[in-house]
Amino acid sequence: MSKDVQAVILVGGKGTRLRPLTLSAPKPMLPTAGKPFLTHLLSRIKAAGIDDVVLGTSFQAEVFEDYYGSGESLGMNLRYVTEVEPLGTGGGIRNVLPELSAPDILVFNGDVLGGTDVGDVLTTHRESGADVTLHLVRVGDPRAFGCVPTDETGRVTAFLEKTQDPPTDQINAGTYVFRREVIEAIPAGRPVSVEREVFPELLARGRHVQGHVDQSYWRDMGTPEDFVRGSADLVRGIAPSPALGDRHGESLVQDGASVGPGAVLIGGTVVGAGASVGRRARLDGAVVFDDAVIDDGAVVERSIIGRGARIGRRALVRDTVIGDNARIGADCELLRGARVWPGVQIPDGGVRFSTDV
Ligand code: GDD
Ligand code: MG
Repeated sequence: MSKDVQAVILVGGKGTRLRPLTLSAPKPMLPTAGKPFLTHLLSRIKAAGIDDVVLGTSFQAEVFEDYYGSGESLGMNLRYVTEVEPLGTGGGIRNVLPELSAPDILVFNGDVLGGTDVGDVLTTHRESGADVTLHLVRVGDPRAFGCVPTDETGRVTAFLEKTQDPPTDQINAGTYVFRREVIEAIPAGRPVSVEREVFPELLARGRHVQGHVDQSYWRDMGTPEDFVRGSADLVRGIAPSPALGDRHGESLVQDGASVGPGAVLIGGTVVGAGASVGRRARLDGAVVFDDAVIDDGAVVERSIIGRGARIGRRALVRDTVIGDNARIGADCELLRGARVWPGVQIPDGGVRFSTDV
């Protein structure tokens, strides 16, 4: 398979819904289960027998090449093409065309944690003879995604990006196979949305867009809730990643981290390298980045604790994002979608959601 297929990964988005974490790192490089998220996706592409990958970068472009270089350590051949001004998803695909020579091109949104068999999507594409094939999944609430109805043969009949009135729960899972000529026909040098422009126009012109539906694990990691869930699912082995091997359990403590006596780590918690967790702290579904400190008796639930941040004694942090190097004082309570910006210091007892202490 490897010679006649290349992969493109779109990693140029700003990751606004994950701010403030994405102020210091692009979304695909945020640590998930101890590795940059993108490493999980790359390992899945590699496991499918594809090692020629082009990254379409824009926002914080240099971070990717600094980390992965030529891809040698992954046994892959990685190249990078950077948009000076973001060109959108379609423009990003068109922009990497000079690096593409294969007849079929696999394209991945860079923020999807998935378990679909990439080889099966390619098979659907080849057997149907489609111009483009889209991986589709079913979700509870399709409104945040591209809604994609199909006919009885699996052929796509419409593409409705983020509609308030979705006709089906079947959505675009963010993995595509393009015939190379379709990419050649995308206008160059200006922003183009594959979802709002390329797919609807292909359909309007009667071109063959095929759906490949399956029931594989699937999650877009673009919001704090999904990021926390996806990370926990990786730690627990619910979401597959060839990059993790068989190291699954209720928690993952990275080398060089310390955990004090009586601390409880459950729900797919991950503790980053150099981080420390104090005595009797309770971490449930916590994503603790490198060098962060959770003090004695603190409780962290379904939250992301940025690099070098500190959570004071007995503090409660639930469904919250704490920016890098922020300091949350003792006995604070931060709940329900709170976001603390990097470096901010909240004094002891300075934020509470109740009056009972
Ligand atoms: N190179 C480049 N340039 N990449 C970009 C750009 C750009 O201008 N804009 C976005 N991207 C990348 C993002 O980094 C991300 O990996 C991917 O394209 C999708 O962008 P998101 O911003 O995450 O889109 P979304 O989650 O709202 O919606 C998309 O994904 C859903 C599935 O996860 C759409 O494709 C939906 O139709 C789809 O259902
Ligand atoms: Mg997304």
